[in-house]
Amino acid sequence: MTQAIQTRSLTRRFGSFVAVDDVSFEVGQGEIVGYLGPNGSGKTTTIRMLLGLLRPDAGSATVLGWDIARQPERIRAACGYMSQKFAIYDDLTVGENLNFYAGAYGVGRRDRAATLARVGLLGHERERTKTLSTGWRQRLALAIAIGHRPRLLFLDEPTSGVDPIARRSFWDLIYDLAAEGDGDGDHPLHGRGRILRAGGDHARRQAACI
Ligand SMILES: Nc1ncnc2c1ncn2[C@@H]1O[C@H](COP(=O)(O)OP(=O)(O)O)[C@@H](O)[C@H]1O
Ligand SMILES: [Mg+2]
Repeated sequence: MTQAIQTRSLTRRFGSFVAVDDVSFEVGQGEIVGYLGPNGSGKTTTIRMLLGLLRPDAGSATVLGWDIARQPERIRAACGYMSQKFAIYDDLTVGENLNFYAGAYGVGRRDRAATLARVGLLGHERERTKTLSTGWRQRLALAIAIGHRPRLLFLDEPTSGVDPIARRSFWDLIYDLAAEGDGDGDHPLHGRGRILRAGGDHARRQAACI
């Protein structure tokens, strides 16, 4: 079975500063993995490389079996990404925000309603985003990230600034989505989350444990 993610000595510098230092890890299909590290330890930079948006200076990686340097479009079409500073438009309603992004991905109307239902936002289409709580905004950002039914979802600090109850229900939702798998029954969620650490020695030590 192809690993969902496989990195080999992934490294990225900005000038002389090493933001991601020789990071190797693997993530199996159906797994939920937390990639932890303090601010500035290279988590977002790692995700940008895995999405084929940023070139590594050294090392390599495959995502869903595709090489990040040679097949970034394949990767992005099959992945969802919820950025740490996700962009939803305050002036648009919930439904309009989803329509805007769904249009870009070619997602049909029926699928949009199904996506809203999956994140518990069905019936809220006409609400203006500006009036939503942080927890609901975050659900909308998730809906946008999963609208095209990605096989792999990158969540960059999705619950920062969210109250504990909304955070809990967000993670319940993520576990439900993972348990749905891709429908062929081959990749059930392994049941446990797993933790990787970003940043220098931590990442190396962790890589050795996997
Ligand atoms: N485009 C960039 N140019 C210069 N430095 C950057 C750039 N992107 C990230 N960095 C630096 O790389 C380091 C890692 O950043 P980042 O991956 O955003 O960390 P994290 O997501 O773990 O907080 C930080 O010191 C950050 O300032
Ligand atoms: Mg970050």
